[in-house]
Amino acid sequence: MHRPLGHPECLRQFGDRRAAAALQDEQQSHQSFRPHLPDPAADGNLPDGLFLSPGVSVNDENNRDFLFLLGSARTGGNTEHLARRAAEKLPPGADQRWLRLRDLPLPAFEDIRHGSDGVYPQPTGHAKTLLDATLETTDLVIASPLYWYSVSASVKLYLDYWAGWMRVPGLDFRSRMAGKTLWAITALSEEDPAKASPLVDTLRSTADYLGMHWGGALLGYANRPGDIWRDGKALSKADSFFTSDYFRPN
Ligand SMILES: Cc1cc2nc3c(=O)[nH]c(=O)nc-3n(C[C@H](O)[C@H](O)[C@H](O)COP(=O)(O)O)c2cc1C
Repeated sequence: MHRPLGHPECLRQFGDRRAAAALQDEQQSHQSFRPHLPDPAADGNLPDGLFLSPGVSVNDENNRDFLFLLGSARTGGNTEHLARRAAEKLPPGADQRWLRLRDLPLPAFEDIRHGSDGVYPQPTGHAKTLLDATLETTDLVIASPLYWYSVSASVKLYLDYWAGWMRVPGLDFRSRMAGKTLWAITALSEEDPAKASPLVDTLRSTADYLGMHWGGALLGYANRPGDIWRDGKALSKADSFFTSDYFRPN
């Protein structure tokens, strides 16, 4: 039987029993408050460029800290403009922090999971900066242009590091990520928003795996820098992206 990566049974097979138990608790607690809401993707009624999932509560607007991770290979690009536009309408009282992954280059990720002890050292340098920022946030916003239908290389590398952070002794990365909300903002040069599905699926599945809430994805149609200002639909969706009550539970 196919099981998704984050399924507790899958984690058990990887020998991660504690994480499996924690995730199962987390999943059960999510299920208990998830309202039954229509899935627009399932009935083919997806609103243009905007994907919101019913798992996220937008009611708790206190003490929110948004971390925007910019993943473009250029500065001042369309994704960044779209993200900054959306950030103008954060929930009241929310704080925001911005980091550009290009300014915090990471060495190639090394997979030592199945080496002698499978343990990763405490992160240092840029990895520590990114780790600390990630753990401090309640809402993590991945702002990555669509590169080859997925996230940019810098975002992918940052996510690969999560596999190491899950294995740093004493860090409890997985349990500390659970309950945060993951959001996606992307610009793409093709008009068909479905072309961004691999990016959206990557991030949504990553959120699931870590027991995070999925905030949704905001898509903009743009190629050359500044094109995003011509995508009126994306801009208007940006204005309510973080506060939309489209799926607000009753
Ligand atoms: C390496 C690379 C790969 C790209 N791959 C895609 C793609 O798969 N689909 C697409 O629609 N646009 C693709 N594009 C175009 C960018 O998504 C588009 O120009 C976007 O506006 C760039 O965002 P930015 O201005 O935030 O950097 C690609 C651009 C680059 C540089």
